[in-house]
Amino acid sequence: MGLKVLVVGGGGREHVLCWALAGSPEVGRVFCAPGNAGIAREFECVDISVGDVDRLAAWAVQQGVDFTVVGPEAPLMAGLADRFAAAGLRVFGPTRAAAMIEGSKAFAKDVMSASGVPTAKYELFDDPARARAYISSRGAPIVVKADGLAAGKGVCVCVTVSEAMTAVEDIMERRVFGDAGLRVVVEDYLEGPEASVMAIADGETAILMQPVQDHKRVFDGDQGPNTGGMGAYSPVPVVPAPLLDEIGRTVITPVLRELLKRGIRYTGVLYAGMMLTPRGPMVLEFNARFGDPETQAALPRMKTSLARVLMGAIEGRLSRERVEWSSDAAVCVVMASGGYPGKYETGKVIHGLDRATAAGALVFHAGTSSGPGGSIVTSGGRVLGVTAVGKTLAAARGVAYNAVREIRFDGAQYRSDIGLRGIG
Ligand code: AMP
Ligand code: GLY
Repeated sequence: MGLKVLVVGGGGREHVLCWALAGSPEVGRVFCAPGNAGIAREFECVDISVGDVDRLAAWAVQQGVDFTVVGPEAPLMAGLADRFAAAGLRVFGPTRAAAMIEGSKAFAKDVMSASGVPTAKYELFDDPARARAYISSRGAPIVVKADGLAAGKGVCVCVTVSEAMTAVEDIMERRVFGDAGLRVVVEDYLEGPEASVMAIADGETAILMQPVQDHKRVFDGDQGPNTGGMGAYSPVPVVPAPLLDEIGRTVITPVLRELLKRGIRYTGVLYAGMMLTPRGPMVLEFNARFGDPETQAALPRMKTSLARVLMGAIEGRLSRERVEWSSDAAVCVVMASGGYPGKYETGKVIHGLDRATAAGALVFHAGTSSGPGGSIVTSGGRVLGVTAVGKTLAAARGVAYNAVREIRFDGAQYRSDIGLRGIG
């Protein structure tokens, strides 16, 4: 028989989630809402958008879905987990109250202060004049962040005071991110390598996933504007096992405990964006979900059944679970539309997908849809996550880039240095 599982979302992260769940011995059928053209080739897609929480819940009840895994933050903020729980459905993803750890930077900072989690010194402002005065007193470099969700664009790392003043004006006065900019967090600038630490949490206990490093800038050598992520690799040599343990002890566990004190049980992935500063690891931000593309580089290394671990989290028995990881390395190279993260065209026919798979890669689809005559066409900024596993990072990179070179679509762009930082 096997369990029926629903994955909510339609990007590369959801594709790898479907893949890992389908590889779990407990799972019989994998559904994805709404999915994309690549997910639809292998799994059953359901045409309901991620924000349509009521229809998703009704569908899951009617189908007898055993549990649901939520990819993106928007449905979590819209209360998907609350709605599903009320309908008696099992769901892996935090409630709306818990997802505020991502939805409000002010809330995240408050939780960190209360629990002694290391993070940049900060102040919160709802008055632009006071924000400006604070910036003048602290000087640059300094970081200005819109409090609410701004599609990953609400953070301004300001090299000069005048840049920070402009950021306050844009966010608070011109409201370029709408109500997300009603308040700003102004925090000290931190320096060091970054790493993403994802923890699977059942409210009290968390199992740390292997660390991953994302590549946020669009061009090689970390040049150009920030994106959703142009590639990822794991393991990350700058986060050896003792440091990962330290992050679990000093960040993940205290946050879960502090949330419990506030009456919030956090079930889902608690993702800590870490800066490894000379003073120790410090939190840049939290996400309430699996990272994208981080998950594409993490799950192929996971030997334990993903379904079993997520069920363990939903049922509150993670303290009795163990997760095994392969010592292999994984590299995910994102292929994006020309112009991304700015304006880009869609509808470009993608060639060579089967040759890329034959070259040994896992090709996770992000922004693709079905085109004429059975073709697959681009439909988003990030199009594909071409992922490979190998004995070493260098080996995984070799396979991933060979596969990337098999794939063609008009305007395709990708970074050629994904994972290089891990090779030293
Ligand atoms: P966030 O969305 O908060 O992760 O911020 C996006 C990016 O901005 C991070 O990945 C960092 O590269 C950078 N950033 C955020 N906060 C700081 C900080 N306090 N100091 C330096 N860089 C930062
Ligand atoms: N890659 C960063 C994120 O998922 O937020």
